[in-house]
Amino acid sequence: MIISIFNQKGGVGKSTTVTSLAAAMTKLGKKVLVVDMDPQANSTLGCGVDDESLEEDSTIFRLLKEPRLYKDLIESLIIETQYGNLHLLASDISLSDAEIVLANAMSREHLLSKVLRFVEDDYDYILIDCPPALSLLSLNALVASDKLIIPLKPGYFSSKAIKHLLETVNRIQENLKPDLRILGILITQYDARKKDLNESLPKRILDYKVFETHIRVDAQVEYAQENMMPIPFFNGKSKASEDYMNFAEEVIVDGKKERQW
Ligand SMILES: Nc1ncnc2c1ncn2[C@@H]1O[C@H](COP(=O)(O)OP(=O)(O)OP(=O)(O)O)[C@@H](O)[C@H]1O
Ligand SMILES: [Mg+2]
Repeated sequence: MIISIFNQKGGVGKSTTVTSLAAAMTKLGKKVLVVDMDPQANSTLGCGVDDESLEEDSTIFRLLKEPRLYKDLIESLIIETQYGNLHLLASDISLSDAEIVLANAMSREHLLSKVLRFVEDDYDYILIDCPPALSLLSLNALVASDKLIIPLKPGYFSSKAIKHLLETVNRIQENLKPDLRILGILITQYDARKKDLNESLPKRILDYKVFETHIRVDAQVEYAQENMMPIPFFNGKSKASEDYMNFAEEVIVDGKKERQW
């Protein structure tokens, strides 16, 4: 199953969710590929890989540009991280040229989809980190995905931005990917002390499910990032680690239910 973590708003916890969910899933025995589609390379770093020390043209960009894809080429770029069954297609700053370089490519929104078709069956889950914009890179991520998880900070439940995002997803479903489904909305950076913001945590937003698990604010997340480690491996006893483990279980169960429908 291929899942994009997307919200065009910046700093809502996309990259943290990708690396933490991936790590939590591997702890639950799953094999997971993280695909970093953001030139900021936060989830590359979060998986313990220094984007600045990557060989030239060894990121996902190399594959998006490639007109003749074959499995060996894709596998040669997949990094087996130090976290067992957590694998990575990395990003670095060169991916910021994608918008221009790929502007005239044939079916330019389907490039990632074509890449992932080769390796989809090798993983239980493929998780895609997106940049904070509805760019060609994000469109490629969404078109390649079966499901979408939208991270959202408390306080933005009824904002214009979330409505706009959900309308955008509708348009992508209509025009590019009819079977893309929103698996749910994940509340991140939840602070139980800020009662006024959190009191009325919704169960649904515009008819979409809000996951039961909320990710609490936890300073350990930043320490984990400084150490280039996913939080479930950095500090398994931390609040955020506990939350992401629960969240991983919820995603696995929901995914199974969806498959039965
Ligand atoms: N549960 C949490 N507790 C505390 N801090 C958090 C938590 N989740 C994320 N953060 C912090 O919030 C910031 C933004 O998180 P993150 O990079 O995951 O968001 P993003 O949506 O990927 O951002 P961008 O849009 O720039 O890609 C980071 O500094 C991260 O350390
Ligand atoms: Mg990010």
